[in-house]
Amino acid sequence: MIKKLWQRMWTASPLPLAVLIIIGGIGGIIFWGGFNTAMEVTNNLEFCVSCHEMQPVYEEYKTSVHYQNNSGVRAECPDCHVPREWGPKVIRKIQATNELYHKFIDPSIDTPEKFEANRLRLAKNVWHAMKETDSRECRNCHAFDTMKIDGQREKAQKMHPKAIKEGSTCIDCHKGIAHKLPDLSAASKQAFEMLKEQSRTVSYNADHLTTLATANIYLNEDDSKAAGRVLPATTVEPVDASGERVKVKVSGWSQKGAEKIIYAMKGQRIFNTALGKTAVPMVKRGETITLESTGQDWTEVSFTGFMDKKDMISDADALWSYSGELYENSCSVCHNAPSPSHFLANQWIGVLKSMVRYTALSKDEQRLLQKYLQLNAQDTGGKGQH
Ligand code: HEC
Ligand code: HEC
Ligand code: HEC
Ligand code: HEC
Ligand code: HEC
Repeated sequence: MIKKLWQRMWTASPLPLAVLIIIGGIGGIIFWGGFNTAMEVTNNLEFCVSCHEMQPVYEEYKTSVHYQNNSGVRAECPDCHVPREWGPKVIRKIQATNELYHKFIDPSIDTPEKFEANRLRLAKNVWHAMKETDSRECRNCHAFDTMKIDGQREKAQKMHPKAIKEGSTCIDCHKGIAHKLPDLSAASKQAFEMLKEQSRTVSYNADHLTTLATANIYLNEDDSKAAGRVLPATTVEPVDASGERVKVKVSGWSQKGAEKIIYAMKGQRIFNTALGKTAVPMVKRGETITLESTGQDWTEVSFTGFMDKKDMISDADALWSYSGELYENSCSVCHNAPSPSHFLANQWIGVLKSMVRYTALSKDEQRLLQKYLQLNAQDTGGKGQH
């Protein structure tokens, strides 16, 4: 029977079927090999970086633990961005024709400005894809059941069992693990520009002025050396606006033993001004109160000095509403931003410190946010200056 079939294959048609099968087979192997070679050469860091070198993603990745770590296991671009399984991998490669389009026909990331403008959109694509696949690429290397959770950092020990129970996926909590997060405050940046605009036409004879940025305060009008620094969102009282600089009074509270700092409220570490040594003797001191809760002595104080006429507005509410927006935009990417009243004013310092590394906030934005949260905390309830 087999013999018969064999003979027919060689004789039945002008081009025997067997020859066809062999040619087809060889062709298939060549095509298959070529295809896989194409998949291989397009699936390594060098290839990715040939287009992505100019953007910060590569530099940021090189400082991450996925580039270099104690174990010496490196995750390269395709490890996180290209599926290993054949089917999804082919689909990803086909999707990559969009990248070719944006490389050659409608460049979207060829300058740092364009990249920044597109970064949030691209990051959202990645987050969406990872969420859809239950972080499949992460799980090629990591898995909950091979993790020694009780040997992990404290926060991981708390969150991983919760993640397993609630079925949340790696990317829900681990955004920004290889690159910096996109600057989500872009919309608020525009709002801030409007506040700056207001500051250019503000009257320095107003009853109150509120600072938009950290600013120097001087003992004398023509000093070049500052006596201290007034922090953002501090409301000062203009005393004399006739000169080159405006003479202002900063008020607040100081704690015994930390006289260089003027805080916004007694008992709360909400910063208004940090003074240098020379300025401290010039501080006017009022009544001292011993707080029952802590036994600390707090004194009502004020300091009068000169500030440059810039970056102040008279409408503090505009600054607070901007701060609220900045908070929502920066802190609700990975989880809902908790209500400011969820923590005590002094607790917010530590909470914010552990979270700002996840954000692209500037130093002054961090200070502003901290003050906003502290002044709306559980134990200040939006009293203070708000
Ligand atoms: C031919 C140039 C080129 C190469 C090579 C290239 N990319 Fe891209 N990539 C781009 C461009 C352009 C975009 C922006 C596409 C857009 O604007 O929609 C992009 C976007 C991305 C994004 C954003 C997410 C998305 O899907 O929109 C990721 C992630 C990415 N590339 C990863 C990689 C990886 C990993 C490699 C290597 C396997 C790679 N790229 C190779 C040009 C390239
Ligand atoms: C190619 C394998 C590989 C892939 C893919 C991979 N990782 Fe990792 N990951 C590692 C290695 C190796 C380390 C470092 C371990 C060590 O500290 O020695 C690491 C470390 C981490 C850490 C600890 C970071 C720190 O600060 O110590 C987190 C979190 C993490 N990975 C999450 C992820 C997530 C989320 C993904 C998917 C987007 C992912 N990993 C994909 C191999 C990988
Ligand atoms: C509910 C949130 C959450 C989820 C979901 C989650 N993690 Fe984590 N993970 C954390 C926290 C919080 C830490 C500690 C981070 C820190 O200390 O900076 C952590 C730490 C880690 C570490 C470092 C552990 C150590 O202490 O060395 C690795 C690796 C890691 N996660 C991988 C993963 C992977 C992979 C997944 C998905 C399978 C995942 N995580 C899902 C919250 C989560
Ligand atoms: C450990 C996993 C991991 C590795 C390795 C990795 N990425 Fe990413 N990449 C991500 C995640 C997660 C995002 C989504 C944004 C975020 O959370 O930072 C992302 C986002 C991006 C984006 C979209 C823009 C942005 O900044 O969000 C580009 C482009 C990109 N990656 C390219 C690369 C290139 C090129 C490499 C190699 C040099 C690389 N990635 C290595 C995990 C990784
Ligand atoms: C990249 C994702 C990410 C961003 C952005 C982020 N968080 Fe978180 N946040 C986490 C994760 C993961 C946890 C749980 C583990 C932990 O405490 O580190 C967490 C926990 C918290 C907690 C509870 C911690 C505690 O001590 O009870 C608070 C409050 C919080 N975040 C506030 C913020 C604020 C405020 C911002 C904006 C400045 C912010 N988060 C931005 C990921 C993020």
